Amino acid sequence: MAKIKWLGHAAFQITTAQGQHIYIDPWLEGNPSCPVAKEDLEPADLVLVTHDHHDHLGDAAALLEEGGAVAAGQPELIGQLEEAGVPTEKLVGMNIGGSLEAAGVVVTMTQAFHSAAQGTPVGYILTLPEGTVIYHAGDTGIFGDMELLGELYDIDVALLPIGSVFTMDPHQAAMAVELLSPQLVIPMHYGTFPALVQDADEFTQLVGERTPEVKVIALEPGAKWEF
Ligand code: NI
Ligand code: MN
Repeated sequence: MAKIKWLGHAAFQITTAQGQHIYIDPWLEGNPSCPVAKEDLEPADLVLVTHDHHDHLGDAAALLEEGGAVAAGQPELIGQLEEAGVPTEKLVGMNIGGSLEAAGVVVTMTQAFHSAAQGTPVGYILTLPEGTVIYHAGDTGIFGDMELLGELYDIDVALLPIGSVFTMDPHQAAMAVELLSPQLVIPMHYGTFPALVQDADEFTQLVGERTPEVKVIALEPGAKWEF
């Protein structure tokens, strides 16, 4: 069984049925809603970062220190990880629209509407070995081509920011769910700071009204969803 564990904010640990550990936006140290210490996490096989803001790049370099972990990302982000001391052979470049296989998973990079110091922000679509499709939107406002992603990929799980201020708010994110038409949605990027939307109640209610067929799983940080 595959598992998705929310590490708070935009950080997730996805564990495939084959036991590979994929970390997305692993901001652990200093993340007020991260319930676990970096030392207590299983070693990474693959690390993905959506953009270079500190609440996403986080501890990516540290997770890459151990074992056979590799990172895939835009060349500009790969350059920053190299500068942080990550050996070049652990880094794989890719860009929007492209796919590659790592840790037994097909990783596809998508656009996101946000900002970054270098490169551009992105999202990721992961196709697990048994066919489960997970979309991590990164930090983004809503965009109409989410509908295209929903047509191109049979998305099982969408991980969507709902916290407003820096990303979509619950109102936009509920519309994004309609465009993407996943089986289930896990909200993220809320509750971390006082400025953000503090809970998933409004989002859950709006999705229930707009697309009642889509299940909303509002995880507690540290909790996981298995499927
Ligand atoms: Ni950001
Ligand atoms: Mn962010």
